[in-house]
Amino acid sequence: MSRLIIVSNRTPGKSPAAGGLAVALKKALSTRDGFWFGWSGSFSENPEKKARFETIDGLKIGQIDLTRADHAAYYAGFSNSILWPAFHLRLDLTDIQSHWYEGYRRVNAQFADALVAEIEPGDVIWVHDYHLIPLATELRRRNIRNRIGFYLHIPFPTPDALNAIPHHEDLLKDLTAYDLVGFQAQRDLVAFNEFIAHELMVKETGGQPFVVDPSSTVLDVFPIGSDPGAFAKLGKSPAAQKMYNRVARGLNGRALILGVDRLDYSKGLPQRISAYEKLLENNANLRRTVHMIQIAPPSRDTIKEYQVISDELDSAVGRVIGKFSEPDWLPLTYVKRAYGQASLAGLYRLARVGLVTPLRDGMNLVAHEYVGSQDPEDPGVLVLSRFAGAAEIFHDALIINPFDTDETAEAMRKALVMPLKERKQRWRSLMDAALKHSVDNWAESYLDALMHSHAAAPGDEDLPGRPHPRTPAHRTAERPPAGRAPFGSRMPFFPWLRSVFSS
Ligand code: F6P
Repeated sequence: MSRLIIVSNRTPGKSPAAGGLAVALKKALSTRDGFWFGWSGSFSENPEKKARFETIDGLKIGQIDLTRADHAAYYAGFSNSILWPAFHLRLDLTDIQSHWYEGYRRVNAQFADALVAEIEPGDVIWVHDYHLIPLATELRRRNIRNRIGFYLHIPFPTPDALNAIPHHEDLLKDLTAYDLVGFQAQRDLVAFNEFIAHELMVKETGGQPFVVDPSSTVLDVFPIGSDPGAFAKLGKSPAAQKMYNRVARGLNGRALILGVDRLDYSKGLPQRISAYEKLLENNANLRRTVHMIQIAPPSRDTIKEYQVISDELDSAVGRVIGKFSEPDWLPLTYVKRAYGQASLAGLYRLARVGLVTPLRDGMNLVAHEYVGSQDPEDPGVLVLSRFAGAAEIFHDALIINPFDTDETAEAMRKALVMPLKERKQRWRSLMDAALKHSVDNWAESYLDALMHSHAAAPGDEDLPGRPHPRTPAHRTAERPPAGRAPFGSRMPFFPWLRSVFSS
């Protein structure tokens, strides 16, 4: 079996936790030879060119340091002050400083320099997320002909949002240097195609020529999942039980409404608190019967917009507590720190309502973990934003528009009064979906597709923008077995565009 090289900004281990991504990929690597490569979490003003390797938690991890200035431009700057807000359709929150782009590309080139020394013929390289879009271009420039796949963990933007990103043409070309580009949801593939269609329209009206030709890259949807079986077990573990009992005592029979999110403006936290406020305002009878816990560990807190959302949330929480608290009842607990998975599983299992209401989200693994942790005999209800990738999978959640706080409040009420029979029916369907889209199936179906994508022949000119000398056969090559593919069908870019690009 070919070796697998996983590349992401953060690696599991000593550097700050890589979250759901780490959980997902550790599993894929545990059954194959290979290693995980990324930033060490440390700075050096004169970083070594070669990666340092060590084994952490049974995984071979290669890391490099970055200079403080490059890291600031690449991570806090271009990745998280331009790409992140634009991809989440928050152009109002972007801080467009084009010069960050140079640091972003420099770090990608530095990753490539360290990687070339480690790559062997036949290795399969799987690159993760928006920090590393140019990596395949950099590797191809260094004559790496191996299969390289890219997976985007966040949503793909609309054409207008993409157009607002400095050097977006280069980034689009960079994507075409991959053999396979995977998205979280059909929505994202549609958005990619929309950009291509938009370009065609511009060209037809006499505008610029195409900036990108995606005809030699396979584009597809692979919704990521969690390990629902592991969460089911974890929910009953001693550590989970401890948290469950501790909180249940405090609740004293009240129903728990729970939110668990990174403190990020994409998560819709102030809107969620406003919706809870409306629930209490409109349903005085519920006031002493419920309690909401919002867990929101701070994130990317060197970036101004993250400080602003943190202040906004402080004030929304204070408003609701001040408005509804009584000497012997608090409506809301707000916890600004991270908890381990076992404690979270205990909380998920206790929660009658799981609130996952982002304004826009790639997938949202909290939704999967909440479903996995439920007691099948007394499951809670998932209230889910239609703008999370998870909404394409979890049809039996209560799907809401997070911008509509009345609708969210009403869904919370409905969840609180839902009869056990309906809760069980809905949960069964959600659990089936979570099992079908487990993290194992995700990784395997992505890697199958990457293995069946076109193999770059030695001597191919693989630089982006230059189509591979590929026959259409690479699209029709043997696909993963039916049922493996996340949606059972694939949606390549618009067929009519193919003829345009091949002409
Ligand atoms: O969901 C996107 C993502 O970048 C993940 O890859 C990562 O686990 C998470 O957000 C946390 O982000 P950061 O690494 O910036 O703390």
